[in-house]
Amino acid sequence: MNWEYLFDQLAEHGFVVIDDYLNEEMFVTTTGRFTVLIDKNELAKAGVGAQKDRLVNAAIRGDYISWLNKDNPDEAAFLDAMTELRGLINQYCCLNLGAQEFHFATYPPLSFYSRHFDQFKENSNRKISFVLYMNEAWLPEHAGELRVYTKAGSEDLAPIRNRLVLFRSDILEHEVLVTHAERKSITGWFLHKEPELLFLT
Ligand code: OGA
Ligand code: MN
Repeated sequence: MNWEYLFDQLAEHGFVVIDDYLNEEMFVTTTGRFTVLIDKNELAKAGVGAQKDRLVNAAIRGDYISWLNKDNPDEAAFLDAMTELRGLINQYCCLNLGAQEFHFATYPPLSFYSRHFDQFKENSNRKISFVLYMNEAWLPEHAGELRVYTKAGSEDLAPIRNRLVLFRSDILEHEVLVTHAERKSITGWFLHKEPELLFLT
């Protein structure tokens, strides 16, 4: 992976697309874990906004999520890989990102996520957004693209298998277009610091 080039793209355009991101073994293991959670119905309707104004609002976002944690070995392995990626981001982008958070997400057919930024108004802890697509056979008619808004206009990115999109949480406005098939991803954020330490700032 030519990280120097990729992180240059991130700095220059506000986002970068990395196809075939995860090694095949980890992709398969992580997909297996995701499938178990889906089959056990363990994903919950996602909310909008931080803490107390978390509104569950299907008019804004229609996805169901499950946060990854270290209790499950497959999730732990994925999170360890993310700690490594965070190290690369810190190194190449001269950042000092101290924490991270990731969730599995499924969008049922006809759902979407309206145009938004990933930084909450009330805090700027989210610095770099991460979306990895887990869709085995995505077809153009399934739609559900990630639309990113740049200075030059907008670009639509199909949520194809093992495609990673990294983007600046503060400046890149984006949306998930209406999907016509179940759309699966792992979405996450590289954070300035652990959310529970924010009161120290
Ligand atoms: C989000 C989001 C994009 C995607 O969860 O905040 O914008 O392509 N997801 O799933
Ligand atoms: Mn978003």
